[in-house]
Amino acid sequence: MNILKFNSEAKLNEAAARIITSTVQVNPSAVLGLATGGTPIGIYKELVKDYNEGLVSFSRVTTFNLDEYVGLSPDHHQSYSHYMKENLFNHVDIVAERTNIPFGLADQLEEECRQYDERIEAAGRIDIQLLGLGHNGHIGFNEPEDELSSSTHVVNLAEETKQANARFFTETEEVPSQAITMGVGTILKAKMLMLVVKGADKAEIVKRALTGPVTTQCPASLLQTHPNLVVLVDEAAGSLLP
Ligand code: PGA
Repeated sequence: MNILKFNSEAKLNEAAARIITSTVQVNPSAVLGLATGGTPIGIYKELVKDYNEGLVSFSRVTTFNLDEYVGLSPDHHQSYSHYMKENLFNHVDIVAERTNIPFGLADQLEEECRQYDERIEAAGRIDIQLLGLGHNGHIGFNEPEDELSSSTHVVNLAEETKQANARFFTETEEVPSQAITMGVGTILKAKMLMLVVKGADKAEIVKRALTGPVTTQCPASLLQTHPNLVVLVDEAAGSLLP
C-alpha cells in the first residue's frame, strides 16, 4: 500500500487526475472504474482540464461506475448517471456507449447485476478503480455487514449513508433506500485501486480501514489485501495515519 498525503485539496486532485491521465496515455483503451459523491468532483475537473489541454483523449476508454441508486432514472438530477454526465462525460470525448453505470430502473435487478459483472468481465480487468470512503467504512455501497457479497448486487443503504447523501437531495426522504453496487470482489479484481479520502471527519475511519483489522464490518479494510493500492489523503483525513 502506498499512502500519499497532500497539504492542499488542489494538489491532491491534481495528483489523482495525473494518475488516471497517465494510465490512459499509456493505454488509450484503458478500462476505468469511476466513483461519485463529493470526493471525486475536483478530480474530474482536473481530468477535463487535462483533456482541454490536449494531454489525454478518452475516445477509446471504457468506464464502469461503482454504483447507482435503485428507482432513479438515468436523467434524474441525483442519479449517478446524471452526475457523471455533469461532472465528466459531457466535457470530454468519451463515447457514451462505452460508459457503464448500473441501471437503477431495471425490472429484474438481479439480472441487471449479473449482466453488469459480465460486462466488466468482457471488457477485461478494470485498470484503475477510483474509490471514495464512507464514514462507516463503506466502499461503493458495500455497507458494514457480517457477510459481504463479492459480486454486483442490490443493497439496502445504511441509515448513516442516507443521512450523509441527503445533502444532495431536497428532502432526506427522497434519498432512495436501495442501490446497485459492485461487490467487494468486483472491486478487488481491478489491477490498481486508488482510494481518495478528504476531510477531518474521515480521519478516524481511514485509519481504521487501513491500519485496523480486515473485517466485513469495515468494508474498506478489505482493500488492505489488494497488491496495488494507492491512497491519497489530504492533511486532515491523513492526520491519524503513519
Ligand atoms: P463522499 O462519499 O465522497 O460524498 O464523501 C464517499 C462515499 O460515501 O463513498
